[in-house]
Amino acid sequence: MTVQTFIPTARAAAEKTASQPSHPADLVQASFDQADFQDTMVKKLYIETQGCQMNEYDSHRMADLLGDSHGYVLTTDPNEADILLMNTCSIREKAQEKVFSGLGRWRKLKEQNPDLIIGVGGCVASQEGDTIQKRAPYVDMVFGPQTLHRLPQMLDQHHQQIEKPKSEKIKLVDISFPDIEKFDFLPEPRVEGFKAFVSIMEGCSKYCSFCVVPYTRGEEVSRPLDDVLAEIATLAEKGVREVNLLGQNVNGYRGETFEGEICTFAELIRLVAAIPGIGRIRYTTSHPLEFSEELIECYRDLPQMVSHLHLPVQSGSNDVLKAMKRNHSIDVYIEKIAKLRAIRPDMHLSSDFIIGFPGETDENYQETLQFIKDLDFDHSYSFIYSKRPGTPASELPDETPELVKKARLAEIQKVIKQSSIDKTDAMLGRTERVLIEKVSDHHPHMLVGTADNTRLVSFEGSADWIGQFAEVEITEIKTLNFVYGKLLNLESDVA
Ligand code: SAH
Ligand code: F3S
Repeated sequence: MTVQTFIPTARAAAEKTASQPSHPADLVQASFDQADFQDTMVKKLYIETQGCQMNEYDSHRMADLLGDSHGYVLTTDPNEADILLMNTCSIREKAQEKVFSGLGRWRKLKEQNPDLIIGVGGCVASQEGDTIQKRAPYVDMVFGPQTLHRLPQMLDQHHQQIEKPKSEKIKLVDISFPDIEKFDFLPEPRVEGFKAFVSIMEGCSKYCSFCVVPYTRGEEVSRPLDDVLAEIATLAEKGVREVNLLGQNVNGYRGETFEGEICTFAELIRLVAAIPGIGRIRYTTSHPLEFSEELIECYRDLPQMVSHLHLPVQSGSNDVLKAMKRNHSIDVYIEKIAKLRAIRPDMHLSSDFIIGFPGETDENYQETLQFIKDLDFDHSYSFIYSKRPGTPASELPDETPELVKKARLAEIQKVIKQSSIDKTDAMLGRTERVLIEKVSDHHPHMLVGTADNTRLVSFEGSADWIGQFAEVEITEIKTLNFVYGKLLNLESDVA
């Protein structure tokens, strides 16, 4: 599909929602007014979110769904909630342990209020299914990442059988993988001010030997192209300026077009960039194998592509990558980054690392350390390997002492932190493109926004400028993530 054929469709979709508040700030106000009005009569929902961006996204979806279907309003206090939902993560053992300790706390609340409804969703739910209710019988509903859209029906079923004797009650457990159905049922995506998070694909078909994601979230499924574009166009009409495309392997996107063809991630990016108002495109989280030439060319052609990339590599040792079943070598990764940096020398790079994978020798670790130094990462999500039941790597012998793993992790994290400090320091005197997001909490004449590289930038200006991009010269480095500057150009002045 070409940009020209798409735009009218997206506009029409956007017009359908024109009666809703048109500015992100209005949306916030509208929800506040509603909350004030309904405070005494409304039922309250508390959601605890563990884990990744996808879970954050899913939690917002759950709140939207139960708000629409049953009028639930979110609360930040579990003590005043009528329903408690835990959106769980099973990526590492520690995350999984949190579930039952958290549920233990909720059990006490249920003892005080027997009408309290408790639900468990997310990847632990997907993996454990009804064993959750065996261990924690006070849990009323269990649902997986692919069935969260069925929450309203589950809640109705719960209410219908509340009076029934225990022997007649059916267990409310639904952790199936009904393919793309989840995407069909859901209301608005997550919007934070001028930024929106849009889920474009789900799951993973890569089966790295250490990872539970393909088993808990299912294989890769992409949303149809038109749905994604219409959604982003609607958001842009409402004032959204930055879009963050989400998926476990987001650059593996293969969405079907209206004509039944397959649209790649790079093609999607070009279409998103053509939507009026979209000034910035980010995406999380991508796979090196899917990081195509076409995608690199988007960085050459599209100013909306930020000079910031999160590209998980997991290890800097080819032996370890092989044992991890990553299906690519270090050289492939290095080559792709070199091409990208030839186009964008200021590219900030972040990655995921697993330290202490079974069989990781000191030599393998030294290779990872050198790789990290060579590629000059700005940030990482780095963790010690965690054995996950049911994954092939859980069978591998692991003889490296825990203390050695901890020392390795601390060393790479120190190197990356220093590199991050150096990168912030290097911003001094440079011009950054900043999305102005709000007035400073402490100084009413100052504005705060984000640079491409995610640092917060504060500078003097007027609240009328919020939602615009500005070119700002950096004049002072305050902390690793916070700098001061002065305005050079405002988007509306140069347009
Ligand atoms: N698309 C990404 C994967 C995202 S999954 C990719 O290309 O790799 C999120 C992250 O969780 C992974 O990058 C990995 O670093 C971490 N992770 C997954 N399983 C893990 C395990 N068993 N132990 C430690 N970290 C793990
Ligand atoms: Fe996990 Fe590897 Fe997919 S880390 S999410 S199986 S790419």
